[in-house]
Amino acid sequence: MSKKTSSRKPVLRSTLWFDSHDRDALVHRSWMKNQGIPHDQFDGRPVIGICNTWSQVTPCNAHFRELAQHVRDGILDAGGFPLEFPVMSLGETLMRPTTMLFRNQVAMDVEESIRANPFDGVVLLMGCDKTTPALLMGAASCDLPAIGVSGGPMLNGKFRGEDIGSGTHVWKFTEKLKTGEMKMSDLAEAESCMSRSAGHCMTMGTASTMASMVEALGMGLPTNAAIPAVDSRRSVLARMAGRRIVDMVREDVRMSQILTKDAFENAIMVNGAIGGSTNAVVHLLAIAARVGVKLTLDDWDRLGRDMPCLLNLMPSGKYLMEDFYYAGGLPVVIREIGKFLHRKALTVNGKSIWANCKDAVNYNEAVITPLAKPFKPLGGIAVLRGNLAPKGAVLKPSASTPRLLRHKGRAVVFENSVDMHARIDDPKLDVDESCILVLKNCGPKGYPGFPEVGNFALPAKMLKKGVTDMIRISDARMSGTAYGTVVLHTAPEAAAGGPLAVVENGDIIELDVARRRLHLHVSDEELARRLASWKPPAPHADRGWVKLYCDTVLQADEGVDLDFLVGKSGAKVGKPSH
Ligand code: FES
Repeated sequence: MSKKTSSRKPVLRSTLWFDSHDRDALVHRSWMKNQGIPHDQFDGRPVIGICNTWSQVTPCNAHFRELAQHVRDGILDAGGFPLEFPVMSLGETLMRPTTMLFRNQVAMDVEESIRANPFDGVVLLMGCDKTTPALLMGAASCDLPAIGVSGGPMLNGKFRGEDIGSGTHVWKFTEKLKTGEMKMSDLAEAESCMSRSAGHCMTMGTASTMASMVEALGMGLPTNAAIPAVDSRRSVLARMAGRRIVDMVREDVRMSQILTKDAFENAIMVNGAIGGSTNAVVHLLAIAARVGVKLTLDDWDRLGRDMPCLLNLMPSGKYLMEDFYYAGGLPVVIREIGKFLHRKALTVNGKSIWANCKDAVNYNEAVITPLAKPFKPLGGIAVLRGNLAPKGAVLKPSASTPRLLRHKGRAVVFENSVDMHARIDDPKLDVDESCILVLKNCGPKGYPGFPEVGNFALPAKMLKKGVTDMIRISDARMSGTAYGTVVLHTAPEAAAGGPLAVVENGDIIELDVARRRLHLHVSDEELARRLASWKPPAPHADRGWVKLYCDTVLQADEGVDLDFLVGKSGAKVGKPSH
């Protein structure tokens, strides 16, 4: 191929649908015109998909019709052709058994919707927890130009003169109900005060963490992470994203140019500095695997180990996302930890992450503490290993009780979540505050779907005694809004025959976070004997999505994607349909 040919602008995918005089092009254009699209829209301008996770059953994304309109305006401003399309949405609060069971299904929906349609680039609208990784995973496997636009957090919750945080206060209120400090009528009032505007959870839960990851990875415009959903600047950001994606298509800037190993390392460090959710671990591992970047649990530990937590936000701290935005937002955090980051990493606006953030101003050092005087010394995710977690487990030190980070205790075992709910509040439960609570069969295959039950409430009799935290170990996840000394994502999980499956009541377990150790004090021979007699649980389904998921899902240390979805296939245009 001559030099001259290779420097020509790439042929847009959309022209293969719209830009010819044959019968197929007539079909493609004619049916589109029933939406009022004039003929001159089909003149070879970039066609931009707006991938929308709007749904009334995903309340955190319920404002996305308006958000999409702003993106659409931006695309038109820049001479593009916007086409909005829906994908399955994942509402954290309503879906059963857990949205995580469906993250990969949405990623498949996104991937195939993009590849099968005449898109040259996409804007991904995401908010509630799993919608963000699902859209990034699906789009990454197509590797077209893409920008993430997060929906933004709700305004701060306000209850009887106090700021209350989504999720975080649910756990607090539920405990107060158990101890009698709150009545049902108090709870009913509190729930109205907690969710008082459009947007996603306004604590540094998984949604806010993943919105921050979008920005830290370079996949979103600066300030994407924290602008409240109802702030007009969120609408402006959406419009600017619409404008920018058209140029990204013209410049042929693809996701794989942004989602590099450097970008993921930056995101891991930022996650430490914001005290982000443990859920980011599995999501980033899965996204990286889609673009062929080798990311492991060891990267999380290596890069997060010494990263202080700068953000004083719930669940680890006091403030909320609205405060974070007014203090300067994520660019301030990125500027503070800039000496650790890969400063040249490219972002969607065509500039490096450092160029975007180096002049960010901190307007409130109580919310975003300086690196020299951090809110908490340890913000990163600790990766634990030992005979109880040969493939790793994770813990969030900033949400833990410091004295429990090194502890040896007697195991109180629950075989599954049903067993736990049946017995946890039984006054006869043989437990004291030095015990370690173990919950099995709540991993990717076991539940199935890897639910957020790892931060299960303490036994009522412990709460009544004034105990506020105990070590809990499971193969489950934990809500990003939750707190406590909670060991999660234990791999292999119990339902896959991991050692967690054979822990017995009365066994001694040792947790030593400084040494990254999680050890079951039984002999190797005894452990081998127990594992040899372990029997796998009965399958959850003999057909449908749940069967496909259970048969193919990877373990937590590999991102919980389906094994056949790892990697990317690009966006080659398929054969004509007529
Ligand atoms: Fe949607 Fe928390 S429930 S972000």
